[in-house]
Amino acid sequence: MSHPFKSEVEKIRKTDYPVNPLILDRWSPRSMTGEEMSDKELMGLFEAARWAPSSYNNQPWRFLYAKRNTPSWRLFFNLMIEFNQGWSKNAAALVLIISGKNFEKNNKPCHTHSFDTGAAWMALALEGASKGYTVHGMEGFDYEKARKDLNVPDDYQVEAMIAIGKRAPADQLPPELQQREVPSMRKPLQEIAIEGKFKTTQSKVA
Ligand SMILES: Cc1cc2nc3c(=O)[nH]c(=O)nc-3n(C[C@H](O)[C@H](O)[C@H](O)COP(=O)(O)O)c2cc1C
Repeated sequence: MSHPFKSEVEKIRKTDYPVNPLILDRWSPRSMTGEEMSDKELMGLFEAARWAPSSYNNQPWRFLYAKRNTPSWRLFFNLMIEFNQGWSKNAAALVLIISGKNFEKNNKPCHTHSFDTGAAWMALALEGASKGYTVHGMEGFDYEKARKDLNVPDDYQVEAMIAIGKRAPADQLPPELQQREVPSMRKPLQEIAIEGKFKTTQSKVA
């Protein structure tokens, strides 16, 4: 990756096995410059999401978006809890991710629609991180209001929001958020990869 923030990840994130830097270098900073984003830049990120795999290639993901300084921005911004508004006010785009619950070809329930849409958001996040963007997922918003205000049909599930913006240095955040502007660690591998039947392993959350 070529962006100037790379070393912060290498200092903190240690792996037991080698992993493609694309995966390890993605994280969720909150400091963004407040710059606008061109359609070309934003569509480049959705393009990455478009190529995610899905059950029967059903492609259940939909991305509703608002760019800053456009009429839709306020509609999306008003969905978020105050904490998220506090930092995402400097984002270039806000996105609501929704997921079609049924297969398009026969209208039967699709068990993996959220799973598929999760893969699509991750592709977007990786593409964004590799281009120097923050792509920060959010559950902190009003799900019912989102459905109502953005006309989301009943057969779509509201999954999450994301804030996308050009990364800025941590010192542009309020002091309490500056301390949290660091890449996080993860649970140990033994806790998440289980050979055979399910069993709980006793270890502390990293
Ligand atoms: C679906 C989802 C919802 C999240 N909701 C919020 C949120 O509402 N506010 C926030 O500040 N961070 C939120 N996060 C960021 C997570 O806290 C973050 O991804 C997690 O701590 C792992 O850190 P990393 O993304 O930097 O690797 C969310 C992330 C995801 C994937």
